[in-house]
Amino acid sequence: MNAPSLQRVLLCVCGGVAAYKAVEVVRRLRARDIDVQVAMTEGAEHFVGRATFQAVSGKPVRTSLWDEAAEAAMGHIELARWPDAIVIAPATANTLAKLAHGFADDLVSTLCLATTSPIFVAPAMNHRMWLHPATQANIDTLVSRGVSVIGPGVGAQACGETGPGRMSEPDEIVDALFGAAK
Ligand SMILES: Cc1cc2nc3c(=O)[nH]c(=O)nc-3n(C[C@H](O)[C@H](O)[C@H](O)COP(=O)(O)O)c2cc1C
Repeated sequence: MNAPSLQRVLLCVCGGVAAYKAVEVVRRLRARDIDVQVAMTEGAEHFVGRATFQAVSGKPVRTSLWDEAAEAAMGHIELARWPDAIVIAPATANTLAKLAHGFADDLVSTLCLATTSPIFVAPAMNHRMWLHPATQANIDTLVSRGVSVIGPGVGAQACGETGPGRMSEPDEIVDALFGAAK
């Protein structure tokens, strides 16, 4: 059964290795009958093709602010108003920094600045990037503004090192969203 307040989710995918896990997040949300729109940063497209997200979400994927067809239909401001929640997974150090400082220089950061929907971030990065004081200060800033942080977990990382910075598993991300919507 869906939490009644959670019917539409905007999933923003950033440029990290864990982008492949975001495909599973979409599948699990769709399995619960949630309408999912995917937006990707330019970096994310180096990791997973937009065709995969289009196939699992059933909707064209948004990747750029400068998309005339998309802006003529559901423009970025309308898209920012559309979701019941925004989830950024994986959330890179770069995008977290942009959100903390109010940048709006790509589609994902602009949507996050233009929305009043709750924002959830699932950080994923090398443990030194995660523990860096700049990243920690950015996370503190975001939390102080009401952004919910899911994870990250501790364990083996894609770089071969071990530590905090692994993106939470898709089920944990979906459970966090539903938990907040109850
Ligand atoms: C192979 C590779 C893996 C990367 N993995 C991560 C990652 O897991 N987390 C992260 O914060 N940045 C990672 N980066 C760096 C980001 O891709 C880079 O900072 C980029 O500017 C992020 O852009 P975005 O936030 O717009 O997606 C990786 C880069 C490369 C080349």
